[in-house]
Amino acid sequence: MKDFFLNYPTNKLCHDKIHFILDNDNALNYHNKLEEYSKTPLIQLNGLAKRIGVNKIFIKDESKRFGLNAYKVLGASYAIYKILSMNPKVSTFCTATDGNHGMAVAWSCNMNNKESVIYVPKDTSDQRIQSLSAIASRVYKTDLNYERTCQLAKTTSRKMNWQLVQDTSWKGYEEIPAYIMSGYLTQFKELENEINSIKKPKADIIFFQTGVGSWAASGIWYYLNKYGTKKPKIILVEPNECSGVFESFINGKRISPKGNFKTIMAGLNCGIPSKIAWEIIKNGCDACLKISDKYAKEAMRSLFYNHNKDLRVISGESGAAGLAGLMKCIKDKSLDNLRNHIGLSSDSKILVFNTEGDTDKESFKSIIKN
Ligand SMILES: Cc1ncc(COP(=O)(O)O)c(C=O)c1O
Repeated sequence: MKDFFLNYPTNKLCHDKIHFILDNDNALNYHNKLEEYSKTPLIQLNGLAKRIGVNKIFIKDESKRFGLNAYKVLGASYAIYKILSMNPKVSTFCTATDGNHGMAVAWSCNMNNKESVIYVPKDTSDQRIQSLSAIASRVYKTDLNYERTCQLAKTTSRKMNWQLVQDTSWKGYEEIPAYIMSGYLTQFKELENEINSIKKPKADIIFFQTGVGSWAASGIWYYLNKYGTKKPKIILVEPNECSGVFESFINGKRISPKGNFKTIMAGLNCGIPSKIAWEIIKNGCDACLKISDKYAKEAMRSLFYNHNKDLRVISGESGAAGLAGLMKCIKDKSLDNLRNHIGLSSDSKILVFNTEGDTDKESFKSIIKN
C-alpha cells in the first residue's frame, strides 16, 4: 500500500459555530499580554535548502515558546483563559496527554492558581513523566493507549466535577478544542510581518506534522481564511505506526489508526483524528504522507549539525517530523505523483515548524550522537 494520499480539497470553509469561534477570537491579543510572551523566531535555512535542492526552507522554532520547549501552550493557555472568563469557579483542570499538551495545561493552571490532573498513556517515557510531575498537581500513568486515556480523563472529570481541557474533539465536546485551536492561531498570525504577506504567502508548500490534527487544522483554517485558493499546498505528515488522518482519508471518514503505535514521535502517537479538525483537514489539506522514525532522526540531525551558516535548531522527534516529511518527499523515488501533485521542485519555498525542542533529553542525546 502507498504511504501517501493525494487529496483534492474544496478549499472552502464552512460557517458553523466552530468556525465562528476560530473567526472571532483573537488569541494573539491574549498571549501578547502575558509576561512570558514573545514571538518565536522564524529561521531561514539556506545551507540545508541548497543541500536538499529546494529554493528556500523556513522553520518557525517553537522550542522557544514560553520556556516550555513546545508550541502546545498557545492552545491550553487560551482555552483555560476562555473557560475561566465564563466560569471563574473552576478549581481543577484535567487532561490526557503524551507530554506536551499536559505541560501546557499544568503551566496554565499554575499561572491561574488552579489544580491540574494529568493522565498519560502507557508508553509515555519516564523523562516526560518527570517533567510533568515537576509542574502538575497530579500525574497518573495509565495502562491504556492515548485514545483510551482520553476517555478515562473524560469520564473521571465528569465524576469528579473537574474541567476537561482536551486538545481533541468528539461529538458533544467541540467548543473547548475549538478554543485550543484558536490559541494555536497566534503562531500563524506571528508570521504576518514575515512570510505571511498580505496578498500571497512567501512559502508555497507547508508540511504540518499531525497527531489528532488540531494544530494542522488550525494552520489550514488560517491559510484558507487568509488566502483562499492562493493558500500554499499543505501536506500532513504522520508516523507509519500511527496514521489516523491517512487511514481516515482511505476509509472516507474518521477512524482510529490501526498501527502498532511504536514510534519515537510521541507527540504524534495519538488516536482517531479530532472531529472538528477532520472537517477542516478534508477541505483544505492537499496530501498526507507517512514517515518512518528513520526520517525523523535524520531531520533532527540535519537541524542540529547545521549546514554552512545555518543556525542550529534543537528539535525533538515530533518537532522535526515536518522537515522529515519534506526530506522523504525529496529522497524517495516512489513519490513522483506526490511531488507533482504539490508542485515540489528546485524553485519551491518550504515552511516547516519545529513544534518541540528536546522534550525528552535522553532520547534527543542518543539520536544526535549516532
Ligand atoms: C511536538 C508536537 N508536534 C505536533 C503535534 C501534533 O498536534 P495535533 O495532535 O494537534 O495534531 C503534537 C501533539 O501533541 C506535538 O506534541
